[in-house]
Amino acid sequence: MISLSRPLKVALGAIFFISVSFSLYYFETIDVIIQKTKPIVTRVDPSTLDVEQIEADFPMGYKNPRAWFVPLPKPNERSLLKILSKEQKALLPNLGAQARLSSRQQKNIESFYGIKRQGTWQDHINSLDDEGLAPLTKWAQQYIYDHQHPKSCKGKKFYVLEEKATWYGLGAAIRVVFRELELAISNDRILVLDPANPPGGNLMSKDCAAHRGKNASLECIIEDITSCASYVTEENSVRELSIAGVPGGNKFVPPLPAAAFLTYMKETGMQLTGAVLRYWWHAQMYGYLFRPNKATLARMVEMRMDKDTHKGIDTNVWVDGEPKPIKKFPFPLPPSTASIHIRHGDKAIEGRLISTRDYIVAAERFILRNPILWRKRAFVTTEDPSAITEIRNTTGVNPVPTSFANQNWTWFYSDIPRFDGSPFQNFRLSQNRTDALIIHITQLWMAIECDTFVGNRNSNWNKLIDSIRCVLMDKCRAPYLDAGYMADWLHYP
Ligand SMILES: *[C@@H]1O[C@H](CO)[C@@H](O)[C@H](O)[C@H]1NC(C)=O
Ligand SMILES: *[C@@H]1O[C@H](CO)[C@@H](O)[C@H](O)[C@H]1NC(C)=O
Ligand SMILES: *[C@@H]1O[C@H](CO)[C@@H](O)[C@H](O)[C@H]1NC(C)=O
Ligand SMILES: *[C@@H]1O[C@H](CO)[C@@H](O)[C@H](O)[C@H]1NC(C)=O
Repeated sequence: MISLSRPLKVALGAIFFISVSFSLYYFETIDVIIQKTKPIVTRVDPSTLDVEQIEADFPMGYKNPRAWFVPLPKPNERSLLKILSKEQKALLPNLGAQARLSSRQQKNIESFYGIKRQGTWQDHINSLDDEGLAPLTKWAQQYIYDHQHPKSCKGKKFYVLEEKATWYGLGAAIRVVFRELELAISNDRILVLDPANPPGGNLMSKDCAAHRGKNASLECIIEDITSCASYVTEENSVRELSIAGVPGGNKFVPPLPAAAFLTYMKETGMQLTGAVLRYWWHAQMYGYLFRPNKATLARMVEMRMDKDTHKGIDTNVWVDGEPKPIKKFPFPLPPSTASIHIRHGDKAIEGRLISTRDYIVAAERFILRNPILWRKRAFVTTEDPSAITEIRNTTGVNPVPTSFANQNWTWFYSDIPRFDGSPFQNFRLSQNRTDALIIHITQLWMAIECDTFVGNRNSNWNKLIDSIRCVLMDKCRAPYLDAGYMADWLHYP
């Protein structure tokens, strides 16, 4: 710390006082100038506001009485161009082009979909920027992969996992498997899906693995979780593992990754809590298991590029009572697009449902406070068809939409079969279950093209989004805005 001598403090204090007085005087001058021009007054009618907004942004309809707090007119392109010289105008196209996605991000997103990618998922992860990944991701992913794919399978011990929860959706099914995988790693056993009754079979078309001579399982859509499945015998395997037998006393995180993250955190000079350790490790687990295999990726790319599925609308322009459609749905989604995942459906059984409007409020509050880089543009995913109807009909929630950033929302969404119910009810909408599942995985991948994330972590799907963006993509530093109650997900196991 710098310690200042007393006379110096007095001197600095005086300078500060003078500069404040000067700027007050200066503001008064601005005031006079503004008074002379036509005054524009922001009018907010408190009766049209929700309590939440009144309290947060306009307490009791408050507006700042200072006369210089007035909205500004839009810049007028035509009159600006009249003023500029030819040379100055020639600069503009290149400056405008900087709004496009960087070629590096473009390449990362293509690689995330497997487009033009030669290598494995691990190669993809290794190509990403450490700064944007969850701590120690490259190491942790290699560690889990090597445990499940040792150089030699000979002499290894196994834990055979059968289907235990036939009624779970994909997000929850993945979670069930990784809870067992962490147990297997702690016990130095390789996790293998039971060939007779493998987890996730119910989520797929029955014949999805017939061409490989196998029963339907999660491995129809994700990479095989181990390379040693054919080495399992009665003698070298168990079908149950008890949490009580886990060495190191942590039933969630195996000893080496726990020690690794602890050491990492000590290096940052900060304490590591049990909840954060588990959250980090579970993100790694989602990232290891939720790797679409080559066939799935190929189908995802087909779905992503389909011209008729994905829609964009601009609620700044209305034609016959309908927002104007965006002609060409972009790939990838443009920079400063927020992902909003609205989880309704059967989630009400487990926690409070958050209204569509609350998700928009969470997004807008952030965007209004970060006007330099963020815009009112979002890709919305949900199983609730009425959420899409409501979104389409929403120009904005904040009562002064013109005050900051762009004016009204631009919405992106996909026209896919939706039913406001359980994941199973959603898959039944389609003839081909595997394909229906891939539609939803594609929605998740599209969400991760975005660079702000609005959701409610009281759902496995939202935790999947949160994990995949931090482990299979380098978007962990992007803001995640939870529209719900922290109490509903904080210590979720
Ligand atoms: C598939 O499941 C059936 C019934 O559970 C079982 O009899 C059969 O052996 C399994 N197929 C393979 C390849 O394991
Ligand atoms: C934005 O939405 C508001 C409220 O619906 C509307 O009054 C305004 O005209 C819209 N702005 C544009 C540019 O369409
Ligand atoms: C859309 O919003 C308008 C104005 O708020 C309302 O009158 C209309 O019923 C809404 N339409 C739908 C389909 O929700
Ligand atoms: C179902 O979808 C999967 C994945 O897209 C595809 O491989 C399979 O051929 C489809 N099955 C039928 C019967 O169309």
